Amino acid sequence: MFRRPTGTDDILPAQQAAWRYVRYHASRVAELYGYSQIDTPSFEETALFVRGVGEGTDLIEQETYTFEDRGHTKLTLRSEGTAPVMRAYLQEGMRSLPTPVRLFYIVPIFRYDRPQKGRLREHHQFGVEAIGDAHPSMDAEVIALLSRYFAALGISGIEIQLNSIGDYQCRPAYIERLREYYRPLLADVCDNCRVRFDKNPLRLLDCKEARCQPVIARAPKPAAFLCEPCRQHYDELRTLLDAMHIPVVQNDRLVRGLGYYTRTVFEFYGQSHGAQAALGGGGRYDGLIQELGGDAVPAVGFGSGVERAILTLQEQGVPIPAIPAPLVYVCHLGDEARMWATQVAQTLRNAGNAAVATPGSRRLPAQLRQADHYGAAFAVIIGDNEVESHTVTLRNMQDKREERGLTVHDLITRLRRVQPQHATQTAPLE
Ligand code: HAM
Repeated sequence: MFRRPTGTDDILPAQQAAWRYVRYHASRVAELYGYSQIDTPSFEETALFVRGVGEGTDLIEQETYTFEDRGHTKLTLRSEGTAPVMRAYLQEGMRSLPTPVRLFYIVPIFRYDRPQKGRLREHHQFGVEAIGDAHPSMDAEVIALLSRYFAALGISGIEIQLNSIGDYQCRPAYIERLREYYRPLLADVCDNCRVRFDKNPLRLLDCKEARCQPVIARAPKPAAFLCEPCRQHYDELRTLLDAMHIPVVQNDRLVRGLGYYTRTVFEFYGQSHGAQAALGGGGRYDGLIQELGGDAVPAVGFGSGVERAILTLQEQGVPIPAIPAPLVYVCHLGDEARMWATQVAQTLRNAGNAAVATPGSRRLPAQLRQADHYGAAFAVIIGDNEVESHTVTLRNMQDKREERGLTVHDLITRLRRVQPQHATQTAPLE
């Protein structure tokens, strides 16, 4: 028997209500802020991710799904959402649109990671990217948007951690200073940190190894090395978040794993421990579009794991609205009745009523069990009498009361009266 690949999930019918709920709130909140949806291909040229995310990052060195297609083009499954959206921004001429260009996506992401609870090799991200404006109010906007999304879902207890890692002006001096500090201590740190020292020194700050903690504690931190414009940008962002009553925690060690960030970086943490704690993260990336061959266009955004949001909803016992069951289950007895039942089901659907009919022939009790299995509120029963009189019997599945001799027109009118109770439930925002 085949099994799904390690680190992937089947999203079964029973889980679809939660997925629909999360997708609904993600797009609703994004649209509330004026963001438009974009979908990019599931794979891109490998070089896009290498240039965008940066060599030396764990993502590029260890986690991409990269392959050569039959035409010998080197391709990579989408390993993060930002670089593909910037590629589309450049390729599709979005530079000519009024700025900022506000985009959002809900897409699968592929990373060859060590699978565990909340960490998958195929996961999904709700992400937004606001392109074309460097003002800190844009950083504040995307942080506020993510925070409103979690509030809309009914998730509580989130901590927002914030930091600034400077820009291309001030960061080189900081990195130099960080390396100076680490150089004499390289014998005391883990093997990974020795590699980071050469390839991705900022990441030294978020090593989780116990032996590296005392070294990190005394290391110089980026926030202390910001140039004046970066300092002002960060101060203004904090003032704006304060004004919006969005509490944040300064985390001097927060640097994020992808190479494109400048200035603001942030992470949203839930209360659970382990790999699934980071519910979302992002930041500003003012150099990425230029790195990909465009002009210097500033941008800011975030990505947030859908599976982790769903795990958190389950942990917190947040009620999820059910996907509405078919309203009517059409039962029939005999060949002629099946013909009439097929027509009745069709007419019901034409009138906008969900209807399911029994295929083949089964005994009535078995058909009514099926109706229960589908969660149908009503069964329509068609036997010889109904065929003859061109009517139906309507059975309320809850109180088992039956009405006989209804024309199809009567039936649709009856159902219209009960319809509102069965319409798609949507939780109000906040
Ligand atoms: P990221 O921090 O790598 O950022 O991923 C964003 C979020 O995706 C994480 O906070 C987490 O919720 C979820 N996530 C990441 N990896 C996994 C995994 N293996 N399994 C399940 N969930 C996962 C980015 O990808 C950036 N592109 C975000 C961004 C957008 N920055 C600016 N704009």
